[in-house]
Amino acid sequence: MMNPRRLFLNIMSLAALIIFSGCGSRSVVFSDILSMKSPDGALSVRVGLTSKGEPFYALDRGGEPVVLPSKLGFDLMDGSNLKEGFQLLSVAPPEETDETWNPVWGEEREIRNHFNEMSLTFDKDDGAIMRVVFRLYDEGLGFRYEFPGENKLSYFNIKEELTEFAMTGDHLCWWISGDYDTQEYNYTESRLSEIRSRSRAMRLGNASQSGFSDTGVQTSLQMKTGSGLYVNIHEAAVVNYPTANLDLDDKKMVFRIWLTPDAEGVKGRMQAPCVTPWRTVMAVDDARKVLSSRLILNLNEPCAIEDVSWIHPVKYMGVWWEMITGKSEWSYTYDVPSVQLGKTDYRKLNPHGRHGANTDNVRRYIDFAAAHGFDALLVEGWNEGWEDWFGKQKDYVFDFVTPYPDFDIESLNSYAHLKGIRLIMHHETSSSTQNYERHMEKAYDLMNKYGYDAVKSGYVGNIIPYGEHHYSQPLINHYLFAIKEAAKHHIMVNAHEAVRPTGLCRTWPNLIGNESAMGTEYRAGINPGHTTILPFTRLQGGPMDYTPGIFEQDMSKLNPGDHSRMRHTIGNQLGLYVVMYSPLQMAADLPEHYERFMDAFQFIKDVDVDWLQSRYLLAEPGSHIVTARESKREPGVWFVGGVTDENERVVTFPLDFLEEGRTYEATLYADAPDADFETAPQSYVITRSTVSASDSLTIRMARSGGFGLTLRKNNCLTY
Ligand code: NOJ
Ligand code: CA
Repeated sequence: MMNPRRLFLNIMSLAALIIFSGCGSRSVVFSDILSMKSPDGALSVRVGLTSKGEPFYALDRGGEPVVLPSKLGFDLMDGSNLKEGFQLLSVAPPEETDETWNPVWGEEREIRNHFNEMSLTFDKDDGAIMRVVFRLYDEGLGFRYEFPGENKLSYFNIKEELTEFAMTGDHLCWWISGDYDTQEYNYTESRLSEIRSRSRAMRLGNASQSGFSDTGVQTSLQMKTGSGLYVNIHEAAVVNYPTANLDLDDKKMVFRIWLTPDAEGVKGRMQAPCVTPWRTVMAVDDARKVLSSRLILNLNEPCAIEDVSWIHPVKYMGVWWEMITGKSEWSYTYDVPSVQLGKTDYRKLNPHGRHGANTDNVRRYIDFAAAHGFDALLVEGWNEGWEDWFGKQKDYVFDFVTPYPDFDIESLNSYAHLKGIRLIMHHETSSSTQNYERHMEKAYDLMNKYGYDAVKSGYVGNIIPYGEHHYSQPLINHYLFAIKEAAKHHIMVNAHEAVRPTGLCRTWPNLIGNESAMGTEYRAGINPGHTTILPFTRLQGGPMDYTPGIFEQDMSKLNPGDHSRMRHTIGNQLGLYVVMYSPLQMAADLPEHYERFMDAFQFIKDVDVDWLQSRYLLAEPGSHIVTARESKREPGVWFVGGVTDENERVVTFPLDFLEEGRTYEATLYADAPDADFETAPQSYVITRSTVSASDSLTIRMARSGGFGLTLRKNNCLTY
């Protein structure tokens, strides 16, 4: 390591005193400063210590500030702090890394990880040492704190992380309210200054919800500046540390990290050597670059699983939508108001006759899924305990191994395997994580015994251990424990209501899905345009089990008591299979609904879920997205999807991603001229044409509409 003072002179050849004028009253004097540029030179990060020994950083793009001078550091539970009184002990000067890696599944076959890194080690007179590592990519910044150990900070508890993100103005933003427990919200598009007045109204109606401030928001937070920069704040690799929300000082437009407390109010129990998650700020001049960024994945550790041959993409159906809509039920009987785990003899109880996961019904779904080429079938409500699982904060709620009397687990798995289908296991924990951990080994063993290789887990309701939150450190550790234990059993995991992902699927690719946002289960509650925002926000950390493919919008057709209608067209649902990347994709509607629209269902049957490459053709958050992807299963075949918000939109995009000199058969599944999410949601038109790389397509998307497009090479060459 070089002497830092010499290094400053070498790198900076700048005056030792630099003054940044910040937003509003914020004006910071750096007594020393160090900077680093991104590989393409567009972004630059500057780090310094004030005269009081407070570490600061700032981020610029092309000379324009993105993050104004912002504080770094912590307050600790014992009254001490890691925010002032620091000296610079050493500096590891900028070094470039340029490598590629191959995801087990993903939006492309190969991912480039190209960044410059520098780290600054600060110390205090009392012996505390804190290092801050900065990685600057062409599209954004990642930085984290590291505590090397062997110093005063062996064990310490965090009261507050003080990391700031000082914005340059009252940006437009797409946000959901800050919460310790759920991300199941519609997004609001507003100015930063409008968050305070609109936040409370958003926090209505989830089984477990804990807002902390009217100016709190969740990450990934997408913003757009007055000069057209797309700025996105998120975090990567949250391991053994609580999840971060942001709280906004809306006078100064400064965000501060707001960690989730554990049951005793501690916001991080640290034992050095240890690191925090990466704090990230993306800043790009084109919304499509947000979608093509792999910043969050790149900041995670490489794959930790040696043999990944058992991990595979999954297109599935489910005995699910009928319970979500109220057509049938998860439970088996109305005879008992409460169930004692292991003590309730269901064979002595009367079935209510509305149990969805009964053997005959499951066989019907297996037949349909097999006939149409699906990989798997999810079955929920197969196990004892659903009579009183919800809202009781019950500890011993399920054992995850005992089927209801009318679910023949052995014969159904044999039947499914015979037909080339795997059943997907369902573990609703009802948020008793300790109960899940008690039963986990046996539950995974049972899956191995019958040949299930994927589990959908769920965390509905308030967390047990009591007082913990879905985002607190012990829960972060629980979710990862479940993923690691599953990996030992060669089981893939799709966790609902767990914390929103932060790229851990790079390290643990058996985490093939998460819900962790408002998905289809909210039915009519989902705002048009929701899925034009999710790829900018929720999907930045990993794929979502959004459960698309709802062709019947009228809920009364499933449940006569429900007169609501979902707000999308069939074309929109088809577009989601491409726009909303996930290696786990569901055709969520009922077989009998698909039977009414078999020609449109063909797109869901054909579309791949794993890709060689992806192109983001058009994108604007809260407005529309058009994405093209080349199939991994059928190289050379492209699928394109488009979705729009509540506005009708005509989009034009070039097909220059196709191979030159070839013609392609284009099959377009589009909204029909009269289609509209309110008046004609099931109106679509399928057209075939011949296209080539030099063509452009112009497609109309209805209000809350969209399209799916398949491009298959013809045998003949064009000249
Ligand atoms: C909520 C999940 O998101 C949903 O998919 C599931 O069906 C229910 N919980 C029951 O576990
Ligand atoms: Ca959910």
